[in-house]
Amino acid sequence: MTDLKAALGEAVQAAFAAEGVDAALARVTTSDRPDLADFQSNGALAAAKALKANPRELATRVGDRLAADPRLASVEVAGPGFINLKVADDALAARAAEVAADADHAGASTVDRPRKVLIDFAGPNVAKPMHVGHLRSSIIGESLKRIFRFRGDTVTGDAHFGDWGFQMGLLIVAVGDEGKADAFFAEGDGPFPDVSPVSLDDLERLYPLAAGKAKEDPAYRDRARKATAELQSGRAGYRALWAQFVAVSRTALEREFGALGVTFDLWNGESDADPVMAEMLAHLSDTGLLVEDDGAQVVHVARPGETRKKKLADGSTVEAPSPPPLLVVSSEGSAMYGTTDLATILDRRKSLDPDLILYVVDERQAEHFQQVFRAAVLAGYAEEGALEHLGFGTMNGADGKPFKTRAGGVLKLHDLISMATEKADQRLAEAELGADMPADEHADIAHKVAIAALKFADLSNARTTSYVFDLDRFTSFEGKTGPYLLYQVVRIKSLLRKAADQGAAVGPIIIAELAERDLALTLDAFDQAVTDAYERRMPHAIAEHAYRLAQSFSKFYAACPVLVAPDEATKGSRLALSKAALDQLAIALRLLGIESPERM
Ligand code: ARG
Repeated sequence: MTDLKAALGEAVQAAFAAEGVDAALARVTTSDRPDLADFQSNGALAAAKALKANPRELATRVGDRLAADPRLASVEVAGPGFINLKVADDALAARAAEVAADADHAGASTVDRPRKVLIDFAGPNVAKPMHVGHLRSSIIGESLKRIFRFRGDTVTGDAHFGDWGFQMGLLIVAVGDEGKADAFFAEGDGPFPDVSPVSLDDLERLYPLAAGKAKEDPAYRDRARKATAELQSGRAGYRALWAQFVAVSRTALEREFGALGVTFDLWNGESDADPVMAEMLAHLSDTGLLVEDDGAQVVHVARPGETRKKKLADGSTVEAPSPPPLLVVSSEGSAMYGTTDLATILDRRKSLDPDLILYVVDERQAEHFQQVFRAAVLAGYAEEGALEHLGFGTMNGADGKPFKTRAGGVLKLHDLISMATEKADQRLAEAELGADMPADEHADIAHKVAIAALKFADLSNARTTSYVFDLDRFTSFEGKTGPYLLYQVVRIKSLLRKAADQGAAVGPIIIAELAERDLALTLDAFDQAVTDAYERRMPHAIAEHAYRLAQSFSKFYAACPVLVAPDEATKGSRLALSKAALDQLAIALRLLGIESPERM
């Protein structure tokens, strides 16, 4: 399905082509003077320069060719050679009807050639509570997962659980020292208990304790290292204990993700890359990619001439490769963060063989991914361009630094959701919404308002920018917020319920009023917003559209009475427009991962 804007774009290109103008110059954009036109093309200006012609004359000739197009009500040349296009009411009505009839996609197109896409997002860790950094990855990743799926790709969302490495050794030592898990410390193949000797609270308490001790006490650190090595080389009791850590953490995390409306198709862990590790190391060394560097083993990833100044310990500077080499095996013999990511690419290639892997991870890890991706391409584990790091900015406090709690600690996701829900409750009371509802429905509404507030506040910013955490603003029912959008959804639902009660039904769409035109044009623009969000991996294009649609509907509703429309045909048409707006708004919100209540 093509949107009206694209269809008219093709007509304009054909008219320009007939005048000998390159299609690339003949673009159509939304008019920046909606009072004068719906769309415009400024192509004549650039083209006239190339053809050494008069731009206004060229524009007039193109305009004459377009004048016969039945979809256009008027074609006018303005200023030095802008072509202003006004769409015919009938063409708008036909397009709005098309959108209204498209229950699944509300006028948005799908890709011609679907791909297999893996999205690596959230990246929670065993025993560590999630904080606001994980929040952004979860919110953006969930939205991208939905957008890619909506466009027709086969998408796998993978939580990439941080379940491997030194932190596991730390936990094993700490749990052992508390004497709670003696059975797991026996040598041999077991059997070992299959219940957890520790609770989530134990894990969350023990992990920071152990990490702190390891920093101060070298002997403790060595014990944790040894435990890590034994775990990784397969000591059965440690594996059994580790499996309990993973299970306890995952259950708790899934509950939190559930509250946030975030789900995964895979809960693969960093540990899942372990079985291909040996093969990978052998391969890297056979191909000569793995080289010795100061006792460690690295893969060089900088290309000739890619250097930057590096300060040495003595204060002098040297030209060093940039990006720096990927550290694969440390001088102590352990695999590193980058090693795991590289092996995970190999593992994914062997299992799902995705065409594209998207990593939704903090922008501060940009260099890490640059190193890993280059190494993966050099090793032949991925095609150039098949790995993308989608970085994002931080959620900051009022001081412009990554958000901290009042006590100065990192804010746990769980506490953030409770805070937002409490605030949502307060906002609902202020707006006198939901007061007479049963308690469980009210709680459900407050939760949905809270999640909408957090998600929309995040997704309405371009992914790459940082934003300031301001719960008061996020939860307001006014302005560009999630709660405002939910309120609009509920308002349309209630209108449609009333119409149904009165026995009024939707009818053919007729476009007559200005507000109806605007609503139809906005409905038409959804395809572009989705395509844009998809191609640039930027959900905010859809957030922006949702807001525009809600506003457009609001204006329409104020200007064009629906239930008391002047005649039955107008009433049927306006109901159909309202329903189309609701369906598209609900889909847009769904793509952002936002659920709306039935009423408020
Ligand atoms: N677990 C990591 C963290 O908490 C994030 C993992 C990101 N994904 C990846 N493939 N490296 O910081």
